[in-house]
Amino acid sequence: MSERLGVIVGISGASGAAIGARIVERLAEDPRCALHLVISPAAERTLAEEVHANAPARLRGLAFRCHAHHDIGSCIASGSFPTRGMIVAPCSIRTLSAIAWGQLDNLLVRAADVQLKERRRLVLLARESPLHLGHLRTMAQVTESGAIVAPPLPAFYLKPRSLAEVVDQIACRAINLLDLPGVSAPAQAWAGETARA
Ligand SMILES: Cc1cc2nc3c(=O)[nH]c(=O)nc-3n(C[C@H](O)[C@H](O)[C@H](O)COP(=O)(O)O)c2cc1C
Repeated sequence: MSERLGVIVGISGASGAAIGARIVERLAEDPRCALHLVISPAAERTLAEEVHANAPARLRGLAFRCHAHHDIGSCIASGSFPTRGMIVAPCSIRTLSAIAWGQLDNLLVRAADVQLKERRRLVLLARESPLHLGHLRTMAQVTESGAIVAPPLPAFYLKPRSLAEVVDQIACRAINLLDLPGVSAPAQAWAGETARA
């Protein structure tokens, strides 16, 4: 098999931790991907509260390599390390702001900034509601730097039957936004219906 694609997943402390967990599960089971994982201290808590007390440890066990949040000397902190992109899911406003305004004081935000400077894909599942103008300006700022802001919203038109289906659909969509060569998650798509006259 040719060399695996390095992909980074960062999980920060916003609600929707199950989405980050599902992305990790899907990328970890794909033999074409080498998954690098960073979990923020706040995400340790949201994963424990929203998913399971053992969730952080379980996800670390699935990754190709785990990196400590404070380890700014890790390989993924450097643009010379070959990765194909990064997803931050969910992405808290704190982490979104740090990426947007270059406050790169931990590995998760440093790795995200590296994706931008190396012109690689960076997908941010920013989660907060409602949004004030500062949040919206921060989203505009990070979009101008090259990131894709993709809030984790249900695709109601696909008529999901469970929260697990919603979570999986959002996870697949985020993976597909990375546009990894040869990797596509089985996201359902709107098939189109003709409106009645
Ligand atoms: C249960 C829980 C849910 C939270 N949900 C959100 C959220 O949806 N969006 C957000 O921006 N922050 C949320 N927070 C607050 C962040 O965790 C907090 O701002 C933290 O400092 C983020 O740090 P990080 O970006 O390094 O993970 C939540 C915190 C907890 C404990």
